[in-house]
Amino acid sequence: MLPPELRGVPLPPPPPLLLALLLLLQPLQNSARGAKRFDPTWESLDARQLPAWFDQAKFGIFIHWGVYSVPSFGSEWFWWYWQKEKIQNFVNFMKNNYPPGFKYADFGPLFSTKFFNASQWADIFQVSGAKYVVLTSKHHEGFTLWGSEYSWNWNAVDEGPKRDLVKELEGAIRKRTDLRFGLYYSLFEWFHPTRLLPL
Ligand SMILES: *[C@@H]1O[C@H](CO)[C@@H](O)[C@H](O)[C@H]1NC(C)=O
Repeated sequence: MLPPELRGVPLPPPPPLLLALLLLLQPLQNSARGAKRFDPTWESLDARQLPAWFDQAKFGIFIHWGVYSVPSFGSEWFWWYWQKEKIQNFVNFMKNNYPPGFKYADFGPLFSTKFFNASQWADIFQVSGAKYVVLTSKHHEGFTLWGSEYSWNWNAVDEGPKRDLVKELEGAIRKRTDLRFGLYYSLFEWFHPTRLLPL
């Protein structure tokens, strides 16, 4: 979420359709139990029951982490606000902190994650009392936190960390039997010609 000094900054909310479409809380146990399959229609998807553990969990942690974490200004919508909506304080932030001509893609190599320690994160999640942890494996910037072959050269293995962050976190979370691991994956990408939604 926003750091306190940015709480006054007006941020257009993401369209509700996206929120509804894009949250994929992976029901990991289901495939093992031969769960029923669903069709890509609202009727079918709405018929899907929440797993009982999810209803009972009460508290989980959803992590937005990606290239936008380098500027860490405003929110994960940084790229959109800066270059599409050209919101003044985002434009000023770039003008004041980065050289002229600096592109969003130039943040990629700076996403080093050098202090990331998955088991340390899992320790913190566990003592917080959370029952599940969901990571943005890809947000609308299109950068994948694992080495996706469909996101060539714009993923955490080809550049930046040179690490499979999804796998590292998954391994650490699954070692804690009282924590469940989920992934968010956005089909929509702001600037990918085949991944647009009407905004
Ligand atoms: C990662 O954090 C754990 C604590 O959960 C610690 O034991 C371990 O030494 C740390 N690893 C590194 C490489 O710092």
